Amino acid sequence: MTTALLHADSPLLDAAAPVSSTPYADALARYAARDTVRLNVPGHAADPDAAPRLAAYFGEDLLRMDVPPLLAGLDKGEGNPLAESLRLAADAFGARRTWFLTNGASQANRIAALALAGLGDAAQPVVAQRSAHSSFSDGIILGGLSPRFVQPSIDGWFGINHGVSPAALRDALAALGDEKPKGVYLISPSYFGAVADVAGLAEVAHEAGAPLVVDAAWGSHFGFHEDLPESPLRLGADLMVSSIHKLGGSLTQSAMLHLGHGTFADVLEPLIDRAFKLAQSTSESSLLLASLDIARDSLQNGRDRIAMSIAAADELRDRIRRGGRFRIVSDTFDRFEDIAAVDPLRVSIDVASGGVHGPTARELLMERDGVYFEIATETCIVAVIAPGVVPDIGRVIDALHALPVDADAAADVDAVGALGALPAPGPLAMLPRDAFLRAAEAVPIEDAIGRVSADALAAYPPGIPNVLPGEVITEEVVRFLRHVAATPGGYVRGAVDPTLATLSVVR
Ligand SMILES: Cc1ncc(COP(=O)(O)O)c(C=O)c1O
Repeated sequence: MTTALLHADSPLLDAAAPVSSTPYADALARYAARDTVRLNVPGHAADPDAAPRLAAYFGEDLLRMDVPPLLAGLDKGEGNPLAESLRLAADAFGARRTWFLTNGASQANRIAALALAGLGDAAQPVVAQRSAHSSFSDGIILGGLSPRFVQPSIDGWFGINHGVSPAALRDALAALGDEKPKGVYLISPSYFGAVADVAGLAEVAHEAGAPLVVDAAWGSHFGFHEDLPESPLRLGADLMVSSIHKLGGSLTQSAMLHLGHGTFADVLEPLIDRAFKLAQSTSESSLLLASLDIARDSLQNGRDRIAMSIAAADELRDRIRRGGRFRIVSDTFDRFEDIAAVDPLRVSIDVASGGVHGPTARELLMERDGVYFEIATETCIVAVIAPGVVPDIGRVIDALHALPVDADAAADVDAVGALGALPAPGPLAMLPRDAFLRAAEAVPIEDAIGRVSADALAAYPPGIPNVLPGEVITEEVVRFLRHVAATPGGYVRGAVDPTLATLSVVR
């Protein structure tokens, strides 16, 4: 069966299009345009007769560009277009080497943890920000890492956590005593756009002889405009996780991992490459790869588009401030010593100050007004405005100001404000990996005190793991989990039993 050529009016064949610097995406479009008989995978064979519903749903161009790996002229052989796109991405992000990932920044975190496992002795600890994304906790299990933690700063009022200051990292490293860390893992920016002092943190990690991994999942646009924060990699991070699909403009689930130029690069590169091969599909999606190529080029050559989006975000913040009903959460960030800068493309709105419960506001805005915010906590909602996006600010403002006052919101907000300090995690009785692989049993929560947890448990808000597999469950932790679960909207993620009557412990 012969697949048809691309339609003559396909934008992919636009001869008038300026010469682009997206080698893989261009090669894929050329490949898709060839007159071929496809007897290979994917099984839809890009044939609209064989897969009419798929073709009607996604369009025929997309099917033609959905091709398997290891094709000459695309990703096979010396100097192939994919290799060239990877090199361009590394240059754009200031990396020694970049990997394109098709399973999100989650994959990047697991690769980073596996790579750290290969450094030094097995028993050497890794110091990680306690609020690490669950994919890094999974990496701790996969790599058999011995974790020690450093707590981020917490805003009890908004129920959110920020980052780690160099002083807090120094203290956490000093607490190791004679143990030498094999790596440090931190997050910047936060979900709310709080940017840490990465240069200072890199200095502290390096003084301790450890490479610094920065999970910059939410900062893939950093460094591409003078009004954006600098990229963590250019500030001394040795490894940087980039969830390009978040604010970098690629398709969902595509991401990058970047290796810096620092002194750890030689030893890290083969470890990452090995972990990448373990974690990447042998059928990586050509569509996701092409989207990464195009997103990188758009970031690199998109100064004006980025400026437009920053201006739009500034306008949204200004109009909210002038409206007088709601406040901007990041206006209070100077109270936190770990926050060195703020991502201007995040607009965080304190809706509780205007008498609305965060999750209710987000739901109403979506359902009633078609206005989609990224995140809600009890007190606030956060908008992300990616480079190139200029939203209809008037519509957002009108929808916000039309939110009805919620009589219960004040009580909910008080409950969040009363969260208080997080309980100290219990001692690590066994490696998280050992606890994860051992048989577990569910026991009544009172009987779980003093036992070793089989699960990771995080009370929301603020969503920081209170217990990890291998840690002893303490009375203080149980009290906190129960307290948060009892607040309006509060819950414990990871618990076998959502009512918290039982917890899962190592048998
Ligand atoms: C800090 C952080 N790291 C990693 C991830 C995982 O990213 P992805 O969804 O691309 O797998 C997330 C997801 O929200 C995140 O917030």
